[in-house]
Amino acid sequence: MPKFTLDGKEISFEAGETVMEAAWRQGIEIPHYCWHPGLSIAANCRMCLVHVESGRQMAMPQLAFDEAKGEYVPATKPKLQPACQLAAAEDMVVSSTNDEVKTAQAAVQEFLLLNHPVDCPICDQAGECKLQDYYYEHQGTLKRKLTEPVHKPKGVRFGPTIIYDAERCIMCTRCIRVCDEVAKDHVLDMRERGNKSEIILAPGRELDHKYTLMTEHVCPVGALTSQDFRFKARVWFLKSGQGVCTGCATGCNTHVDYDPRYGKVYRLRPRDNAEVNEFWMCDDGMMTYTRHDTDRLVMSTAGRGDERVPIGEGQALDLAAKKLEAVEASKLAVVLSAQSTTEDNLALAKLAASLGADRLYLAALGGWEGDDILRSEDNNPNRAGATQAAGGRTLKSVGDLLADVQSGAVQGVLALGWATAETLKELAPLVALDSVVSLASHVGALPAAASVAIPVADTFEIDGSFVNAKGLTQAFRPTLSPPDGIQPAWKTISSLAGKLGKELGFEDVQGLRQGLVDAVEAAQ
Ligand code: SF4
Ligand code: SF4
Ligand code: FES
Repeated sequence: MPKFTLDGKEISFEAGETVMEAAWRQGIEIPHYCWHPGLSIAANCRMCLVHVESGRQMAMPQLAFDEAKGEYVPATKPKLQPACQLAAAEDMVVSSTNDEVKTAQAAVQEFLLLNHPVDCPICDQAGECKLQDYYYEHQGTLKRKLTEPVHKPKGVRFGPTIIYDAERCIMCTRCIRVCDEVAKDHVLDMRERGNKSEIILAPGRELDHKYTLMTEHVCPVGALTSQDFRFKARVWFLKSGQGVCTGCATGCNTHVDYDPRYGKVYRLRPRDNAEVNEFWMCDDGMMTYTRHDTDRLVMSTAGRGDERVPIGEGQALDLAAKKLEAVEASKLAVVLSAQSTTEDNLALAKLAASLGADRLYLAALGGWEGDDILRSEDNNPNRAGATQAAGGRTLKSVGDLLADVQSGAVQGVLALGWATAETLKELAPLVALDSVVSLASHVGALPAAASVAIPVADTFEIDGSFVNAKGLTQAFRPTLSPPDGIQPAWKTISSLAGKLGKELGFEDVQGLRQGLVDAVEAAQ
């Protein structure tokens, strides 16, 4: 691989890469605002200026003070070049830290802050703002401009999800490019020139495509804020876990930002994965975090409708076992879930096998609008993993289950998960059965139709994996602890198996995964 030298370090690069890109791939940051690895090059902020010290020097005319003559005389200084636009070349020697570069970085910073409102105490970007970071790293001087800054519109509603503050905007155009190049919707543009410039909406439009939150995500300062997150949390109180989006079968990788003081998730952000989502997520996926603490099932219950009563966990397991024992194995339906992890589904499939129950079904949401950007038409994250857990066989739907209940072929049900396309009204045949046991993290039609409902942990609270639509297995670790007394579904299934006198042969998630690997290998 060809190499160039950056600040004394050898950097290898691929043909066509810029100095910025090659350095970024090797974890070296050259200060920048407008450059983003997933977007085209605009080279408009000039924060990434570097000095190419090798080869013929490009020179810029300037006036330099001549001590001997006591006056300014014509001179030249090296012409700096934007690293984001500069093609890397073999044996090139580049400095991003010499005196010329440092002077330029400080000058660009000062220029960008000339009219900036310095709203930091009330700005949502504070704590993760490039203007703040680079001020400390590359400027650090007091403001010299004493006149009134230029005022521009603040709090402009761009659409249902995004608010714009033109005074904070540094006109890097990342938001315009993310709409053009990722969402393929030219809904944002720029108007006016110089310090009057601002970002505007296309006439008659709102910022309302399916990737609007990516504009806020790429904005390097606090000019774009999300309606959902603004004024809710200070980012320095947040910690971050690594997750996989539950919105659809694409399985975009996420940072799960939560406040450990309250055990509360405040937002999801895309986690870069070149194989899956590159740098992006869709709005619906970003908002899936709101499901976590909405309509949680927190108590085991027995009975239905007005007769439903809360019961203890041990009592619920005993009752569930009793209900399941009352059903002949050939008439027991076991419902896997396309919203649950492969491990939870595998535990349930193992329990079904140990009971001799061969009737396996799959509960899933009914699909949504996909696109050729990221969104899969299947709004379930793990249909493929649930199918793998069932040994690759085709699983019947909840619609088929209802028909089998009505024909009398099924007389009892053990179901995982809350999510199904059917409403409680449509699940009426299940409500007529005495033995319907539901293991679910959230309220939904399946637990509502059950005669015994036992709460289990949610995706943010467990170790597990999903298999996405392309067949890629993606594991994740727990970010939060489940509410007191609530276990991951695989553990609850193992306890239920114990009550039924069965041993499922795994102690933990690793044991379950190994079982799956062995099964897949045996099938090959
Ligand atoms: S709103 Fe943000 S992303 Fe858009 S141009 Fe301004 S600073 Fe850049
Ligand atoms: S495309 Fe699918 S997986 Fe990706 S963020 Fe959207 S809903 Fe989540
Ligand atoms: S990052 Fe290179 S000019 Fe903005």
